[in-house]
Amino acid sequence: MKFFLDTADVDAIRELNELGMVDGVTTNPSLILKAGRNIEDVTAEICGMVSGPVSAEVVADKADDMIREGKHLARIAKNIAVKVPLTWDGLRACRALSDAGHMVNVTLCFSPAQAILAAKAGATFISPFIGRLDDIHLDGVDLIADIREIYDNYGYETQILAASIRSVNHIVEVAKIGSDVITAPPAVIKAMAKHVLTDKGLEQFTADWAKTGQKIG
Ligand code: G3P
Repeated sequence: MKFFLDTADVDAIRELNELGMVDGVTTNPSLILKAGRNIEDVTAEICGMVSGPVSAEVVADKADDMIREGKHLARIAKNIAVKVPLTWDGLRACRALSDAGHMVNVTLCFSPAQAILAAKAGATFISPFIGRLDDIHLDGVDLIADIREIYDNYGYETQILAASIRSVNHIVEVAKIGSDVITAPPAVIKAMAKHVLTDKGLEQFTADWAKTGQKIG
């Protein structure tokens, strides 16, 4: 399963990238706002750090304008994936950008029906938002399972990019289902390393080692 970081924070990306754990990055208008940087500057910097796909989102609502914005964003670097919303205009833009040879990430997906349309429109990635479904008391992980089943039934090549990930449990559950990619905030990725028994065990080993009076090296 590929790990994308859902952030435009270059320091956070650098830290995990040094461990070789970053297969790509996703951004959106809210994350650009949070970073407080110009979209083209920060996206170019991220593309220079990470060799995998870096999603940059269009903001227009009409297909022609999305295509124009998407082509503009794609000029930033070769590894840009243009992110378009799952609206009818977004699907038209997806088809045009995909036919023009660009990677396209179709975002704001909340149903299996939407995911089928994205695959038919030539999306490279479909981004189902699992946390936001959980927020309204629906099961976001179930959506990943449904899309996996449907895509496998027909051999669709669109990659499932589980987004709006809020917890370590989300990552483990979608990994069990076979999501191709997850995109998560760096803090959630780092939280995967934590376990109370690891902390407790290490505390014990450290205390016992001190009692031996030995040194290594
Ligand atoms: O990339 C978009 C998505 O991951 C947003 O997550 O937490 O704002 O629902 P969230």
